[in-house]
This record gives sequence, structure tokens and C-alpha cells, in this order.
Amino acid sequence: MVFSKFFLPLFLLIPACATVDLTGNWLMATPNGDGTMRRVYFHLKQEGGRIAGTIRATLHLYSIDKSEGGPEGFTISAGMALLGGERRVTYRIKRVGEDLEVTQVTPQGAGPVMVAHHVPEGEGALPARIEPPVLHPVRDNGLARTPPMGWNSWNHFAGRIDDATVRQITDAMAANGMRDAGYVYVNIDDTWEGERDSHGNIQPNKKFPDMKALADYVHSKGLKLGIYSSPGPNTCEGYEGSYGHEEQDARTYAAWGIDYLKYDWCGAFTVYKDSEMQAVYQKMGDALLATGRDIVFSVCQYGVGEVWKWAPAVGANLWRTGGDISDSWESMSRIGFGQNALAPYAGPGHWNDPDMLEIGNGHMTDTEYRTHMSLWSMLAAPLIAGNDVRNMSAAIRDILTNREVIAVDQDRAGRQAKRVWQLGRQEVWTKPLANGDTAVAVFNRASETAKVTFQWKDTGITNVPSYIRDLWSHTEQKASGPAWSAEVPGHGVILLRVR
Ligand code: GLA
Repeated sequence: MVFSKFFLPLFLLIPACATVDLTGNWLMATPNGDGTMRRVYFHLKQEGGRIAGTIRATLHLYSIDKSEGGPEGFTISAGMALLGGERRVTYRIKRVGEDLEVTQVTPQGAGPVMVAHHVPEGEGALPARIEPPVLHPVRDNGLARTPPMGWNSWNHFAGRIDDATVRQITDAMAANGMRDAGYVYVNIDDTWEGERDSHGNIQPNKKFPDMKALADYVHSKGLKLGIYSSPGPNTCEGYEGSYGHEEQDARTYAAWGIDYLKYDWCGAFTVYKDSEMQAVYQKMGDALLATGRDIVFSVCQYGVGEVWKWAPAVGANLWRTGGDISDSWESMSRIGFGQNALAPYAGPGHWNDPDMLEIGNGHMTDTEYRTHMSLWSMLAAPLIAGNDVRNMSAAIRDILTNREVIAVDQDRAGRQAKRVWQLGRQEVWTKPLANGDTAVAVFNRASETAKVTFQWKDTGITNVPSYIRDLWSHTEQKASGPAWSAEVPGHGVILLRVR
């Protein structure tokens, strides 16, 4: 430090700073460990003591709007508009010989020193914009007459998913009762993607040596295989998206034997405005239909632009209604109890998706997971397990495979429950079922046990039920007269089928 103070004035005497000019296109590439690279491009222009330009960090494109420093290094700060807000990054950069030394400062907090190399101008630039198609309604694909059921890799495995694990999950689901209870889709989420070949065909990365063979294996166990992509150039994790290759990718999926596609907006915000989502999603809806294969179409764009109003018109069978769930009571209950207003939009073939299940991931109690399962079933939500089903307690398996609860979710009338009664933190939701029964969920959102008492007539059930079955204890209750009353554990539920 003493040295640098001493030498600093000498550096400042060097005219024009020719040796420390940072102008150029720089690539910082880090191996993902699966044969693909995580790429960050710094496209910089140094004007005296100021740095301008862009940073393309996998799926994000930031504009540099602040810089400070000098020959000893710069701190650059860059921002981008994202889903109604702003996302920012800060890096420290310094020219060292032919290279650029880079340290990310925010949002993660100071990271290790990395090296970026000079690359030709234009490399890593965003692809040219492709105009979205003119809107037209996409024909119903006839799938998902009841909410899709299955499993997805993201909530538990995130990027640590590979062919061997998917096979083990498949074996587990075929053996542990999940398949027979209706969980048929085995869905691979982000990080399976490799590079495109010279004809533009998408290839899996090293974690998935042969997608067709994997699909054959999953099918041989009586299950179906799902996959994931983005309408943008990159997925959320920065992997290859379907931008400009929609028809080609749909054909590839069909040739592999894929049965379900989750299509996640993510990297599309670098190319398209939120208002263009419908047209962009329509393109894949058309492409999937054109393959002639039955492929469930799952739209994931976090509920932006009242997606429930237009998703069926793009051929979607389900659409996410909000942001990502996490394995906590706060997240699960905020999302689940926030779905009331969306009930009119659910029905056979097209479902609101409050996101995948967290049941069994370890950060909620079994009582809370029973509430999660009950609430999602009342909502006619897709039941996509997100835990390590190779390895779960009997209690978790019993929650996921409770046939009487699943029957509420899978009821062929496809009605989504509504909140019909509320007193403080206690609420009753009802869901009319195809045979004339009503599913009644009595929730206690408070953390302490509470005695809940309500009048049937106050829940819209005008005739006092003569048949009341508790779907968790699998017992019938005695008809209770005009009022119903019971103790409900904190964060717990009593789920009834009444007639
Ligand atoms: C988004 C989605 C998640 C998951 C990740 C994968 O965050 O909402 O469900 O697919 O991307 O990168």
C-alpha cells in the first residue's frame, strides 16, 4: 500500500494512458462442469477516466452508467430494466497485460478475481430481433383434462440434475406408489442444454448423453418425460434458449419422445417487451402442435400481463401465476392463499399454476406440507412434486400419495376452490366436485392451534351435509347440525368432502 501511494503520481504522468486502455470486447468464461461455459461479455469503451458500454452476463444485458477509477482499475456499475424494476451489477476491472482482471462486487458480494480475454468485436452480441408473429388463437391440444401431475428437478436439484438421477427418480416413482397415484410426468428443468450443432439442432450437455434413450427408459416405466426451455436466447441459468429455433426445437423434442415442455420467459426480456409475450408464446404453441406429438405446454412467465386471460389462446395447458416458490411457510402460504381471484380461469385443459410443490424438501413441518397439498388440490393446481422422491419419509410419501386428496385435485369438473368464509386467520375454501359433493378445506393460518366454528350456510352450503368425510384421517364425521366446529392445528388444515 505504501508503494502504491508512492508510485501513483508517476502513473498519472503517463500521457493518454495507452497501456491501460480498456476499450474492446472481453470475454470471461467459466466452465459449468457439463461441457458448457458461463459467459460474460464486457463490451467497453474507455473515454478518458470514464468507462461506457454494456455487460452481457449470460441472459442479462446491462448498460454501464457509472464508472470510477483510473489506471489502477475501475469500478463499473450497470443496470437493466427487468419485470417492472431494475437489476444492477457492479464489477471491479483492471487491465493486466493482454487481459482484463475482473471481480464481481454486487449483487453477490466480492467474488474471486477472474480473467477476461480479448475477443473479436461482435462476439457475444445479442442476436438480431425477430418480429413476433401476428396473434391468432392456437387450437386446444386436447391434453391435461385434469391438472398435470408429476415431478420436476428444479426445487430440489437445481443445476445438479443428470441422466442417472432422472432414471433413479423414475424408478422411485414407479415403485413408491407415486406413478400409480397419478404422478406421470418426470420433468427435467433448466441446465440440461448443450450447444447447437452446425445445423442449429439443440443438443443436451454432458450430463444427458442421450435424451432419446432417456425418454425410452422413462416410457418403459410407464412414465412421461418433460423438458425445459426459454423463448429467449438464454434460459434463466444462462443456457441455450429456443430463440429463432422454436419449430426446430419442438421437432427435436418430439423426436426424442418428450411429452411436456416448460417454457420460461427469462432470457426473452433482452429481446422482447412484456407486452409481446402472448405472440412469442404463441409461436411455441404452434410449433408443438405442428409436431403431431402430444406435448403438454407449460407457460412460465411469473404471472406478468394477466397471463391467465390469454394463455389458453397460445395453446398453454398451464401457466405460472407468480414468482418462484421456496420451501417455507411464508412463501407457500402467500402464494397459495393468494390465488382466490384466479378461480374463473381454471378448467379442463388449462390451469393456473401457483408453482411446483415443496413437500418433503425439509423446511416446513408435515402439518404445513399437508396444508400445501390440500391447498394445491383445492386450487386444482398442477401437482408437480419437487423433492428427492428416491429418499423420503413415509409421512411425506403418504402426503404426496393421499388418493382422497388427489381426487379433489383431479376432479373432472376442474373447478378451482374459492375462499367462502374467513374469521381472523381462519378460513374456509370450497370446491364443487363433479358428482355433486363439495370439498371443504378449513385452514388455520395462525401458528397456534385454534378452534374453528362456522355455520354451513355461511359457506354457501345451504343444506346441512349428511355425509362428512375427513380426507386426511380417512374417517367419516357425524353430521354436525347447522354449525361445524373443530380444533385445527397451527398452520394446519382439515380437509373434508361433504354431501
Ligand atoms: C425460473 C423458474 C423456475 C426454474 C428456474 C430455472 O426461476 O421460475 O421454476 O425453472 O427458472 O432456471
